[in-house]
Amino acid sequence: MLDELKKELENCTKCPLHLGRNKLVFSDGSENAKIMLIGEAPGADEDKLGLPFVGRAGKFLNELLEKAGIDRKKDLYIANTVKCRPPENRKPLPNEKIACEGNLFKQIEVVKPKVIILCGSTAVETFIKDKKLTITKIRGQVFEYKNGIKLVPIFHPSYLLRKHSTEPDAPRALTLKDLEMVKAMV
Ligand code: URA
Repeated sequence: MLDELKKELENCTKCPLHLGRNKLVFSDGSENAKIMLIGEAPGADEDKLGLPFVGRAGKFLNELLEKAGIDRKKDLYIANTVKCRPPENRKPLPNEKIACEGNLFKQIEVVKPKVIILCGSTAVETFIKDKKLTITKIRGQVFEYKNGIKLVPIFHPSYLLRKHSTEPDAPRALTLKDLEMVKAMV
């Protein structure tokens, strides 16, 4: 079912991001997964390969997933808020996110995950509209979405790459804790 949507989006011209698209970055992992992870947008490596989280941030994410006992290919379905790379890796603009959010909602509808990990502030903003609830305040908390689906915000791995501390209360350790909690929820 999602194959059709993916095919259709390969020729999508609904927002300006299509102008710089080399490859559509639709998803990775399993449509049968109980956990869905939503990132921000494809970067250069993702645009080249057509897969989400395959660059530096993705490799770091893989390390954390492995430590938390989450199998990226079997336990996870990965998507982004927009499916085409924004120029110079800037954040997607509101009109770009709006143009693409129906595709993300369709992915959620088909996959029917138990938990959605919202990776970073761009993903959080799509689902949690209260601007006071910044990622630092709400990471690791569980929010209700709909149809019993839970939302868990976590720090984005690109942010973690800039935060080197290995202290137990530092962002890297907190994110591992959050992922372990998600693993225990499914
Ligand atoms: N960062 C994201 O948010 N998504 C990707 O696919 C890659 C990097």
